[in-house]
Amino acid sequence: MGVETWLLVATVVVLAWMYSRWRHSYWSSRGVPSPSALPFIGHFHKEYFIDTKTVDFYKENYTKYYKSQMCGLYDFFSPVLVIWDPEMLKHVFVKDFDHFGDLRDFNLKTGHERDEMVSEMLSLKTGAEWKNLRAIMTPTFTSGKIKSMFPLVCDKADALVKFSMKEAAENPQVDMTKNFGRFTLDTIASCAFGIECNSLVDQNNVFINNVDAFFKISTATLIKTVFFRFMPRLFSLLGLSINPSAGDFFIDMTKQTIAARKAGKRRGDFLDLLLEAGGKSDSTNEKQELSDQCLVAQSVMFLIAGYQTTASLLSFSSFLLAKNKDQQHRLRDELRQMVAEHGDITYQAIMEATLLDACLQGDE
Ligand code: HEM
Repeated sequence: MGVETWLLVATVVVLAWMYSRWRHSYWSSRGVPSPSALPFIGHFHKEYFIDTKTVDFYKENYTKYYKSQMCGLYDFFSPVLVIWDPEMLKHVFVKDFDHFGDLRDFNLKTGHERDEMVSEMLSLKTGAEWKNLRAIMTPTFTSGKIKSMFPLVCDKADALVKFSMKEAAENPQVDMTKNFGRFTLDTIASCAFGIECNSLVDQNNVFINNVDAFFKISTATLIKTVFFRFMPRLFSLLGLSINPSAGDFFIDMTKQTIAARKAGKRRGDFLDLLLEAGGKSDSTNEKQELSDQCLVAQSVMFLIAGYQTTASLLSFSSFLLAKNKDQQHRLRDELRQMVAEHGDITYQAIMEATLLDACLQGDE
């Protein structure tokens, strides 16, 4: 390459770097502290893999900028504000929620069916679309409706206890994190997809393998995400999708189940409730049917929103109970009394178990 070419390359690099610096000065120009960011990427790489390093990163920022009550990060060039002041959080989540209802815009428009499906999820909808869909879906989570799913959850809980007890009889060390994860998946498969799987016993279950593939966060996916963020048009032209191909498995499976349900095969689960759901749109005041794509999206969202969250809650709560024997005995007493009064572990009894609730909520 000639000197001119080198000079041109160097100029482009310097200009790009200056542009990135300018975009990453959003927070400093507003007096909000911000940890050092990578050019173009910002802090995206720190959060992407969601592992212990992500937690350490947040802890570091919290300690370092504690007095500022907040710090600013960058998701590529998009500014992200992290807040830990309780009063300010109350404003965001309650008092001024009208201004903060929308989640981050993930802009999944690649033209791929599985990306279109993901962008239909309630959690990714914004503005009036979110409000309408939320109004339709909220009634599916009333206590009466959840009660109808209770027998399905109990079946899976019985299988969990049976399997864990058997394991404990053979080996005093039981991997309960794994077992809670499998239990949660079996429950979601049953409640959201109408699929009966027993992943505790059947380790090579096709549903589980696809869930693992769907949730796998790899460097290749990171590179794909970066590519999509900077060149979305080229990304779409190449026919690439931002979501893993395992997503197709859930789309096909849910479509088949929806067809069976429409043909009259009902079992009182989340999918049935969604099929029955309909709501009045704010704008037209007319009853809205949920499209098949929307139904598929909400079932897959159940998996994304409910899997890691519930499995982690069960693991951490059990771990803390194992470490706090006094509390464990108190909880055991409460549950024994509950069974004596109600004859069994019923939905109503669980709703009345205050100590159980406090343990799961993490109350002091
Ligand atoms: C212990 C378990 C769970 C925890 C800790 C948890 C936590 C959360 C949090 C913090 C949010 C707000 C996210 C945000 O605003 O950025 C959220 C939203 C959501 N979660 Fe959960 N979740 C749990 C279980 C579930 C389950 C089992 C479902 C099943 C359907 C679910 C469905 C949703 C939905 C649909 C939203 C979005 C609501 C909306 O945008 O209107 N979650 N969850």
